[in-house]
Amino acid sequence: MWGGHFADGPAPLMEQINASIGFDKRLYAHDLAGSRAHARMLAAVGLLEARERDAILAGLDAIEAKIEVGEFDFSPSLEDIHMNIEARLTEAIGEPGRKLHTARSRNDQIATDFRLWLRDVIDGVDGLLQDLQRILLSRAEAHHDWVMPGFTHLQAAQPVVFGHHLMAYVEMFGRDRGRFADARKRLNESPLGAAALAGTSFPIDRTATAEALGFDRPMANSIDAVSDRDFALEFLAGASITAIHLSRLAEELVLWSTPQFGFVKMSEAFSSGSSIMPQKRNPDAAELLRGKTGRIVGSLNGLLMTLKGLPLAYSKDMQEDKEPVFDAADNLRLCLAAGTAMIETMTVNREAMRLAAGIGYTTATDLADWMVRALGMPFREAHAATGRAVKLAEELRLDLPELSLDQLKSVDERITADVFDVLTVDRSVASRTSFGGTAPSCVLDAVAHAKTRYL
Ligand code: ARG
Repeated sequence: MWGGHFADGPAPLMEQINASIGFDKRLYAHDLAGSRAHARMLAAVGLLEARERDAILAGLDAIEAKIEVGEFDFSPSLEDIHMNIEARLTEAIGEPGRKLHTARSRNDQIATDFRLWLRDVIDGVDGLLQDLQRILLSRAEAHHDWVMPGFTHLQAAQPVVFGHHLMAYVEMFGRDRGRFADARKRLNESPLGAAALAGTSFPIDRTATAEALGFDRPMANSIDAVSDRDFALEFLAGASITAIHLSRLAEELVLWSTPQFGFVKMSEAFSSGSSIMPQKRNPDAAELLRGKTGRIVGSLNGLLMTLKGLPLAYSKDMQEDKEPVFDAADNLRLCLAAGTAMIETMTVNREAMRLAAGIGYTTATDLADWMVRALGMPFREAHAATGRAVKLAEELRLDLPELSLDQLKSVDERITADVFDVLTVDRSVASRTSFGGTAPSCVLDAVAHAKTRYL
């Protein structure tokens, strides 16, 4: 493979550690696209004759057809996708195939292929995130007035509506989409023509190949072009944050689907039973969304460590960039699709949520706020008086709205019967009309706004 300089072939172990074809064959379509753009450009600047270019293009098409029907024999002795395709091309068309590598290197080739591949992945992930938002939005709309307990410290805090809780995830996944879109912008510059690291003495046209491949422009520095993997890191960072969001959602589904909560029931299609306990319905799919976060974040950490301390420009260490990105992309896409389907098919128990919404004196803040509003009390004083009311209710084993007016008056004699208006969970959520609040009317506004923004 290395022409005149090498007398011996590689040791079998060298082939094993060195070959990347086992995984980088996934880049074949993007490698072919890069070669087509390169061949056309070489002909346009006079480095190939038109018939040579046409022979190359026809040869590349034939290779693509073979790969697509599974008849291409990928060979580890040819190391990677670039050499496999080039060797087969030359075998098929002879001399013109040997000219294709003029003014390029595998270093700019792999950087180009990987960017093109990841750009497609990012576009797909954006669509999957949008699908997830669409389902969350439709369920948020349907459940815009379904009361549930809102938690802080996982302790009952204040009543909210289920639609509002779901809309929090719509926001998170919206930011995720923004992060991927931002990464895509920086990714979309062409390394092709940087050659090994220094550029080339041939009169190539990097703008032409960049345009042909849908890049915004050629990368400005040839050394950076072959050594930069920020685009892979940015994708993995975005994927990690998305995975963390999915994991938090998954954790809530796991919790809510316990008999103790009983807020949701995951569909049978996304649950499994137990081999010993007949009553069990385990939320396996949700647990796996949570679990796969570890490997996605692990991929980010792994690639960060691979790149740490690498001198410019290309080093073979960088071949280790592919597998973590492939693995993270595959699992992220799987998790997004499964998460969407789980949300779509779960059933929500309105009664269980409603009952739980009032447990734990969740309208205590409403009582304090009422004292501020109706009695003109400073909030700190109202907070203390409400604390006494909660203590009394606890002693009497009653809920706040179950206390009698006399009992409430024992806490502060200025309290009147009007107070009962604010102590129910429905009145509580209906009153939270500040922008971004949980009042059902606000949730409907938020849903309408998010639909125009995201769908
Ligand atoms: N398979 C290599 C990789 O993935 C392609 C670039 C090889 N370049 C080199 N100079 N050996 O990184």
